Amino acid sequence: MQIKSAIILTWMVLGIQAFLLPLFYSQSPFFSGKSSERIEREDFNVWLNQQKDIAFNHILDNIGGISPVLNTKDVPVGVVIASPSKVHPNYFYQWIRDSALTIRSLVYRLEDSDFTELNLASTIESYIANNYHLQRLDNWSGKLNVATGDYSGLGEPKFHADLTAFKEVWGRPQTDGPGLRATTITIYLNSLEKHNRQPEHELLLSREFIYHEIVKPDLHYILQYWNSSGFDLWEEVNSMHFFTSITQLRALKDGLALYEKYDNKDPELFEKLNATYENLKNYIVNESGYTQPGLPYIVETPSLLYTGKRSGLDAATFLGALHSHSLENKELLDLYADIPFDVSESHILNSFRAMVADMKYRYPLNRYRPGWGVALGRYPEDIYDGYVTTEGNPWFISTASVAEMLFRMVYKLNYYKEDLVISKEARDFYKQFIDLVGGDDNEDNEIIFPYGSPEFNAVSANLADYADSFLEIIKDHVDDSGRMSEQFNKYSGYMQGAEDLTWSYSSIWNCIRWRSKALEVL
Ligand code: NOJ
Ligand code: NOJ
Repeated sequence: MQIKSAIILTWMVLGIQAFLLPLFYSQSPFFSGKSSERIEREDFNVWLNQQKDIAFNHILDNIGGISPVLNTKDVPVGVVIASPSKVHPNYFYQWIRDSALTIRSLVYRLEDSDFTELNLASTIESYIANNYHLQRLDNWSGKLNVATGDYSGLGEPKFHADLTAFKEVWGRPQTDGPGLRATTITIYLNSLEKHNRQPEHELLLSREFIYHEIVKPDLHYILQYWNSSGFDLWEEVNSMHFFTSITQLRALKDGLALYEKYDNKDPELFEKLNATYENLKNYIVNESGYTQPGLPYIVETPSLLYTGKRSGLDAATFLGALHSHSLENKELLDLYADIPFDVSESHILNSFRAMVADMKYRYPLNRYRPGWGVALGRYPEDIYDGYVTTEGNPWFISTASVAEMLFRMVYKLNYYKEDLVISKEARDFYKQFIDLVGGDDNEDNEIIFPYGSPEFNAVSANLADYADSFLEIIKDHVDDSGRMSEQFNKYSGYMQGAEDLTWSYSSIWNCIRWRSKALEVL
């Protein structure tokens, strides 16, 4: 009898919850990502709106404290896990890279809300405070000792979720982490400054404190290691990589701007930042082999080209272009104008074109959409299937990234009312979007379509449509409630690899955000 009434009571409670939860969720700015509502695949625009919220909520599901599903004993407040998956594969760790890029989405969203979504601010600050500890934790990459100038520990790629060091063999160091983290924190500091705020987390005494104690060590790491080899963002190859170099360059630029705001007392640092910025830029443009005479695209890891192991095509190149530039407004555009290889640079465009040409045939599922966007993987030679090494597959991150590049191109042309200048090197890319025969050639062999001309408008619209066709592919491969793993099978299209990959959600969210910006100005 007692048992029976307990069951009835349980049913009632569950029943009431089932009734109340949707009410609660629809009112809360962050309804739980665990909603089992089916996504609308028939109507692209309805899906986009749903997917944007679903993705954001799934990001939050994977961050301690703000997550409705994680326990803060396992995942402390502000810790970002790469995926909740603990076996097959185990991604239940915090990667410096994944966390920095994901928290960056939160910072963008906070800024879009005009700094009103304060629970995001407190999550971001907990992330920053955690990283203060991680930076100072001895680990297998080394340690941090400012007094002796030892910054080696900052190259550690990942830590346990509970903020302890990961003591197993891994591809380390990964030299992209400090720069990515420094840039994310810089964007947050600028947001605090813009809204005339100071941090509220008890450990983070002021904006100056964050700069001195957390950003500066990361800058020192880059000053020391920018020309040393390290593992790439895919954690496989110990060498020099375009993604790492270009995001480090961005971080140095950020560091220089922060120095002028918060420092001015350490001229030696200022000089080093300036000199290293120039050296790294020169390395990227002239010495690294990221560009090669005779090759129209970026070579992500030149050492692999020389040994004949890879073509150099890699989605890391697109991620590098995206995460090293900002172009929301004139001030940002000007600040980063000096960083090479933005989304409309010809090598980047040709990498894009060549990746599409390769993966269109490499992944059988792409046969079903002739002439349109295609599902993209990490790089042609990839054999990681999300669990073990067999055959590579398309990734959500790669597919969303190229769509975001296209939206940024559309935004840039239309927001700044730029003429469309098509260099000789970029012609093959633009030929897909407009008939170039009859375009005016100038002495530099450029074709120029003035802002607002019919050709300009046609290219803008076609670029945006092309971007949507990549998003359509993502729509077809997320599950019925909009969930995203790391990859989707190249034959069947079914998802595989780490489930609910935080970075997948962050990259689709970023992409849809840029889509809105682009369409607003189109
Ligand atoms: C796990 C890494 O994170 C992934 O990037 C890599 O491809 C596989 N290991 C295989 O090495
Ligand atoms: C494997 C990916 O290759 C790497 O880039 C990522 O950091 C980890 N998985 C965690 O998501």
